[in-house]
Amino acid sequence: MNDHIDERALLIELEPEVGRLYNRHASMAQEWFPHDFIPYRLGRDFDKEPWTPDQPRLTGVAQTSFEIGLLTEDNLPSYHRLIHGMFGNGDGAWLNWVGRWTAEEGRHAIVLRDYLTVTRNIDPIALERGRMTQLQQGYDLDSPDTLHGLAYVTFQELATRIAHRNTGRYSDDPVADKIMIRIATDENLHMVFYRDVVTAAIKLDPSAAVRAITDEVLRFQMPGAGIPGFMRKAAQMAKAGIYDLRVHRDEVLMPVIRHWRIFELSGLDATAEEARKRLAEHLAKLDDQIRRFEERLAHSKVPGTETLRRRACRRI
Ligand SMILES: [Fe+2]
Ligand SMILES: [Fe+2]
Repeated sequence: MNDHIDERALLIELEPEVGRLYNRHASMAQEWFPHDFIPYRLGRDFDKEPWTPDQPRLTGVAQTSFEIGLLTEDNLPSYHRLIHGMFGNGDGAWLNWVGRWTAEEGRHAIVLRDYLTVTRNIDPIALERGRMTQLQQGYDLDSPDTLHGLAYVTFQELATRIAHRNTGRYSDDPVADKIMIRIATDENLHMVFYRDVVTAAIKLDPSAAVRAITDEVLRFQMPGAGIPGFMRKAAQMAKAGIYDLRVHRDEVLMPVIRHWRIFELSGLDATAEEARKRLAEHLAKLDDQIRRFEERLAHSKVPGTETLRRRACRRI
């Protein structure tokens, strides 16, 4: 295959493997129902008893993290448009995946909103206004091609899996934790699907795949980045250990890069070799940056947010 892969040709070449991975996904994914996870016994009518700020059990970062998680999931129409744009020109299996993935993702916002509304853990009016802002703004990627899109969604599904899982843990609420474990299980299966499609793409054209993976690692942004106040809120979540640079590098980037054996691939062309060098430099720089930050934090006397790690220690 030449350097500039024809998009349609790539989709056709990958289709048999996508079909196999779709069937594997369908046999592994368990059916589940949002209503099974919601403590409806706690529900009260909002017209008789409106929401007030003293009602939530969740506070501070836990609340922020749920808000970011839900608003991110709320933007599904934009993600569907993007995924359909990337994979919609493929035949059978690609379209089956677009439909299946969208339907599964839809459950995430349903279960999160029902939980937060019934438990009154977040102001439902603020949440609805946030959703309106978020959806009207939408979400976009710079005209992603199939390879870039596949690389991005692999990292993004894993990042979301970990952010959701850690949000559940941080909440100290067994109901929330169970919901987040359930969602994280879905995100993990999504990641495994995309990751393995990329594995097939690497076999077809390792140079083009390495270039796309490098681009996506270097410019990675969470899909919630457009939420108003995201930077500040993401910083709070990082400080709490829910999703920080250490998690991003060690639990998202590295396991996937190792799985694809990027640094062991041979026969790359010159531009891919150059991209791989940039990837290695980026990962090393990230490690250095994190180490220096952690050292500074260890010597800091300023009391910070209670972190997930400290919470875990407290429980032991
Ligand atoms: Fe999701
Ligand atoms: Fe997902």
